[in-house]
Formats: sequence, C-alpha cells, structure tokens
Amino acid sequence: MIKKAILPVAGLGTRFLPASKSIPKEMVTVVDRPAIEYVVKEAVAAGIEQIILVTHSSKGAIENYFDHNSELDSVLRNKKSFDLLDEINNIIPSHISVISVRQPQPLGLGHAVLCAKDIIGNDAFAVLLPDVLVKDHSDQNDLSLMINRFNQVQAAQIMVEAVLDHLVDQYGIVDVAKMPDEGQSILMQGIVEKPSVGTAPSNLSVVGRYILPAKIMQLLEQTPRGAGNEIQLTDAIAMLQKTEQVEAYRMKGQTFDCGSKIGYLKAVLHYGLAHPKLGAEFKAMIQALDV
Ligand code: G1P
Repeated sequence: MIKKAILPVAGLGTRFLPASKSIPKEMVTVVDRPAIEYVVKEAVAAGIEQIILVTHSSKGAIENYFDHNSELDSVLRNKKSFDLLDEINNIIPSHISVISVRQPQPLGLGHAVLCAKDIIGNDAFAVLLPDVLVKDHSDQNDLSLMINRFNQVQAAQIMVEAVLDHLVDQYGIVDVAKMPDEGQSILMQGIVEKPSVGTAPSNLSVVGRYILPAKIMQLLEQTPRGAGNEIQLTDAIAMLQKTEQVEAYRMKGQTFDCGSKIGYLKAVLHYGLAHPKLGAEFKAMIQALDV
C-alpha cells in the first residue's frame, strides 16, 4: 500500500517573482486556497496518509497552513463563525500527518527526494511536484489509478501527458514503444531530462507525479549531477529502469503549471469556474467581459 508522499517544496520559485519574493510560491492563492492545498488533497484522495514536505527555512508558511492555529480558532469561536472554524480545522482529515524535512542545499529534485530517505524506509511512495495542479477527469483521480496499477504489477509508475513538440525541452520525456491511451500504463524503455527539441524520444512529458519503490533512494545516492548541474530524479529513474520494469502512465485529467504565471492564470480560470459557490457568478463575469 502506498501511504507516503513526498512533496518537494524547497524551490524558491524564481519563475513566479515578484509574488514569491516573501511568500512561498506554493502559498499563492488559486481562487480561495493556496495551491499546495489542491496537491495535498489530490494525494489524500488517492489514499496517502503521510505528507512529507521537503522544505526550506523560508517556507514555514506551508507548515503553518496545515497546523492548528489556536488564536484564529478562538477569534472565530468568539465571533460564532462556526462554518469558517470548521473549514480551517478540516483542511485535511485528522488521520493525515504532515511532516517536514529540510533540503539544506538546492541540488535538484533528485536530491530533494533523497532528503526524505529516512522517513521512507523500505516503503514504496508517491512524489507529487506542487507546481503542477492535476484536475481530475470526471472524478477519476489519476494518482489513485497509478497506485492501483502499482499494486497490481509492482512496477514504478511515471505520470505523463502529451505536449507540443517544441516544448519537450522543458520536461522529462519518456521513451515508449507506442502511444498509450489515456488511463493506460505502458512499459517505459527510457527517460531523459529536458532533451533538446528534435532529439526527444517522444512528446510524452513527465507531469510530476511518480510512484516509486524505496530502492530509488539508493540509486539517487549514486546519481551524478545531470541537466542544469542538478541531481535529477529522472536520471535515477533511468537507472532503475535498467534493472526493473518502470511504466509510463498516461493521465486522463488536466494539468496546470502554477509555477509559471500564465499556467497560474489558467488554473485560476478553471478552478474559479468549477468552484461550487463562486463558479456561476465568475462565469457570468467572464461572459460580460468586453474583450
Ligand atoms: C521537473 C522534472 C521534470 C518534469 C517537470 C514537471 O522539472 O525534473 O522531469 O517534467 O518537473 O513539471 P522542473 O520543472 O523542476 O525543472
């Protein structure tokens, strides 16, 4: 059973400056809650019970968000704002634990994952990159489908989606014998981090959702610096794939890259329109725009 998920949140969010100058980019609001809440809820919906934040000294606001705030509690209680009180105390179910470890140096995603080695122990685990929001396709949580597949075949699962050919140099790209259908896993023959345009083995990009065996930690310890002079998770997965079956899972849902400004705006539009209380009014507002 996959119960642990690593969320690397130590990155300083330079793509999102100036907003991320003094607040973590993961705390930037998408409609009425910080982006990180959507990612944590995605993990919880897939059965994750332990959220492991790999974080940085400047990012305490993330831990505070998932912690209890007694002062706010008593203010809301005195104001008899019981609905709000209920909401802030139930951001995540009580059986979910949120723990954090520090990434002492910015040595890359692979290094961030390795920082959680002792907490992972011998368990297989999920990794969710919090820049990317994944919106379910008609209530089907892609991460749950990946976990189901992992439980069936015990092969690592890498979530992928098709991207335009000229964008392949922004992502990890997988090599597969044929294009899988959405919702299908297929044996991965290779994976490469940010290949230059024209050299990529496919246009299937790594979304930032992974189900990995504990063994990846030993491989990360041996992974030399790669693209961008960083220790890349992609390179450790490429090593894993030499000795074990690794599958690419083609997602059904939709992604929003909230690490980029335009991706963030797109997320606000989509999540705003889907919001149970604000959606209808927001839609009318957009329709009334004279642009
Ligand atoms: C990371 C991964 C990359 C993946 C991407 C998804 O890159 O290394 O394989 O495709 O996230 O967002 P980063 O965006 O951190 O450079």
